[in-house]
Amino acid sequence: MSRYNNIIVGVSGMEKLTWGIEGLDKLIGDAIAPGSLIAIAGHPGAGKTTLASTICYANTLRGRKCLYISFQESRNKLFRVMKRLGIDLESAEGRGFLKFINFPLALMPEEFLSEIKKIVERNEYKVIVIDSINPLLGSVEGNLAKRAILQNFLYNLPSITNGLTILLAELPVGEKSIWLGELEFVVDSMIIMRHRIEKSMLVRLMEIRKTRNTPVSVAQIPFSIAEGRGVEVWPPPIIEEVPSVKEEEKIELPCKTLSAAFKHLHRGHVIYITYPADARPWFTPMIFLGLSIKNDLKTLLISYRYASSDLAELIKRSLVKIGVEDVNELISRYFKLVGLNPFTMSIQQLLVHEVNLVKEAKPDVVIFHGVEIPFSATRTREYMPYLINQLNYLKKEQVLIIRTSSYLSEKIYRVNAGISDVVINIGLIKASHGGFSYNAYLWRRAEEPLLIDSNEVDECLSEIKGLINCLGAGQSVKH
Ligand SMILES: Nc1ncnc2c1ncn2[C@@H]1O[C@H](COP(=O)(O)OP(=O)(O)OP(=O)(O)O)[C@@H](O)[C@H]1O
Ligand SMILES: [Mg+2]
Repeated sequence: MSRYNNIIVGVSGMEKLTWGIEGLDKLIGDAIAPGSLIAIAGHPGAGKTTLASTICYANTLRGRKCLYISFQESRNKLFRVMKRLGIDLESAEGRGFLKFINFPLALMPEEFLSEIKKIVERNEYKVIVIDSINPLLGSVEGNLAKRAILQNFLYNLPSITNGLTILLAELPVGEKSIWLGELEFVVDSMIIMRHRIEKSMLVRLMEIRKTRNTPVSVAQIPFSIAEGRGVEVWPPPIIEEVPSVKEEEKIELPCKTLSAAFKHLHRGHVIYITYPADARPWFTPMIFLGLSIKNDLKTLLISYRYASSDLAELIKRSLVKIGVEDVNELISRYFKLVGLNPFTMSIQQLLVHEVNLVKEAKPDVVIFHGVEIPFSATRTREYMPYLINQLNYLKKEQVLIIRTSSYLSEKIYRVNAGISDVVINIGLIKASHGGFSYNAYLWRRAEEPLLIDSNEVDECLSEIKGLINCLGAGQSVKH
């Protein structure tokens, strides 16, 4: 089902113009106020035609007429391609809300402009798309002549119609367009659409270069084009001030050793837990469950490594090991498990998608399991701004954030520790009986670091075991 199906056709003529994309309406809705001239520029395949068709179509659904002028694409081809994206231009045309005109390239600018003027004066088009202005501007010599077309005619179009005029501009690959500056000077708003390859995936970005009617807080917005869904934007959550941690509510640690090191935690804290990649401890789920039980917290566990069913199995195994029987009940009471392959989307989309999962599940705690996986495949300086925005958003939502990772490199460890309030670095040591056991380095912001040995780790686990078993036996636990 297309996301346009919910929109009522032909409602009030007074309704605002829309981008047809929720995120853009929120972010830069006023940029397409009636009377605006906007430019959408980009390399071939960047998505200019798709975005313009989206705006055109979404407004026809709101009872606005759209005029789509193309110098390149045939009506049939455009309609066919857009239909697969959920943009049904044919039905808009059938209802009399869309007029598609294909102009021959050979037409001189004067003929074209007078032709357009006639059509526009006879009809009430609230959205006009010119796809693209390259043939028009290319047919005259010199920047002055180009600016004259832009300034004398195209600039005035929106005021004739009191609607929106969208100029599409093709940027030649690998070259800087010599007249882009002229265009930017004349239009009210300008969006540049870009795409590049990241993690072997196509990443699309909209760069909001200029908006005359509306302040812009995000300069680059990731977006996607997908079958049946069309254009979707993924604006990152931006919170200008770093939110403070609210100190009133204390989150108690599930054992004395952890309490001695951290005292207590607060919502909004970021906890980083790391362990050897080749000896990942079986007991980390117990710490999470102990924390949940002790404080009655709902936990969303997002794993980059395992499917949700495998995660459940992993937690079960660690609980069975300590003799807990009613495992499924405990897991479903405290956990929501999600397996998320970070390589099915760009890093920006991934972090926004996770925020959406949190908005949906409304947990008290969110655990990101296996953060070394997206980290090791992305350049830190590209990952970091999006990650910090995400963490700030989660802090503001008062979620306790736990990030776990295998120890891959000192750099990954330091970068992640550097953005955390609490660090638990679990190490593997040779035990006196010959085998191996775990110790841990513990640090909390504003406290002395603490190194605990394997006996203290064991003591902590046995306390948590008591806590879990006590709940399993149906006794009440202090919250
Ligand atoms: N059904 C579809 N599913 C997913 N992506 C699609 C689909 N149809 C088209 N696309 C993508 O949309 C993009 C085409 O966008 P569009 O034609 O709007 O670009 P453009 O900027 O107008 O290009 P040009 O300068 O060549 O006119 C392509 O990158 C294509 O991969
Ligand atoms: Mg195009």
